Amino acid sequence: MGKGSGYGKVIIFGEHFVVHGVPGIVSATDAKTDAEVKKSEKGLVINDERTGSKGYAEEKKIQQIESIQRMLKAMGMPADTAMSIWIGGNLPGFSGLGASAASSVAIARAISEEFGLKLSDERINEVAYEAEKAYAGNPSGIDNTAATYGGLMWFKKNTAGGPDLVEKITIKNPVEIVIGSTGKVANTKAMVEGVAERKKVNPKKYNPLFERAEEIAVEGRKALEAGDFKKVGALMNENHTLLQGIEVSSKELDLLVGIAIEQGAFGAKLTGGGGGGCMTALTPSEKLQEKVASAIEKEGFQVLRTKIGVKKI
Ligand code: PMV
Repeated sequence: MGKGSGYGKVIIFGEHFVVHGVPGIVSATDAKTDAEVKKSEKGLVINDERTGSKGYAEEKKIQQIESIQRMLKAMGMPADTAMSIWIGGNLPGFSGLGASAASSVAIARAISEEFGLKLSDERINEVAYEAEKAYAGNPSGIDNTAATYGGLMWFKKNTAGGPDLVEKITIKNPVEIVIGSTGKVANTKAMVEGVAERKKVNPKKYNPLFERAEEIAVEGRKALEAGDFKKVGALMNENHTLLQGIEVSSKELDLLVGIAIEQGAFGAKLTGGGGGGCMTALTPSEKLQEKVASAIEKEGFQVLRTKIGVKKI
């Protein structure tokens, strides 16, 4: 049997903008997806036991099968390779936490082990990027990169097709965040396509928002490295306003952001594709993290208490 894992991720700055070459900042979460793969005689069997994956939308199931077929192709394996795949781990199946990329990396690693392919991390990342196309259409690559390598990183997609720019960001101490789930499964592919379409139709409105997103990423990196979390939080709030501007937020996401800020979070924004999915709030200290997390839970939403900038997960 082959085994593998992939990290979940939370985008601190720049989702959607990264698809168009604006830099973004992403951190792996300390929650992971695990996979086990076993050769079999009976075609493809998937046993998905991830928490929160109950009622995993039919649409996502179709995307999951397509992603595995894309992965096999990228690995040079026959599309009808028979195997049974188990997926589990402690990363909740909330939309927006890179669950699809984490599972692709975990499955790619498990296939590599089971079939003796000995793929390097670089190849695993490439294979997972191909798999991500099934979920995101035109992905930036930020999710699979975070899922493969972990840690806190600066990511800039090479829109000309060459290698992306990936740099490790170091912060003095890991910092607490809260992730709140709207409970709504979001379709990242449709969200990414929507932004591209609206940007094309309305460049006057969209271009300044993209320019500011780039400045926010640059300022956010400096503030993170300096340990200035008040500033990081303020920039996250502004990033959320930009995301509202490109029409990817929702009533529930705005509600979660509002609760987090009211409870004293330094900043809060949607994270990931939006349109549902998750919100993340910066809550330095366990006390503040607990205050924000329990207030969100009281309103009936699920939360994940985690940290960004953990060196070794
Ligand atoms: O919703 P998620 O976890 O798949 O995150 C998507 C992030 C986007 O920036 C919207 C798309 C991408 O490929 O970067």
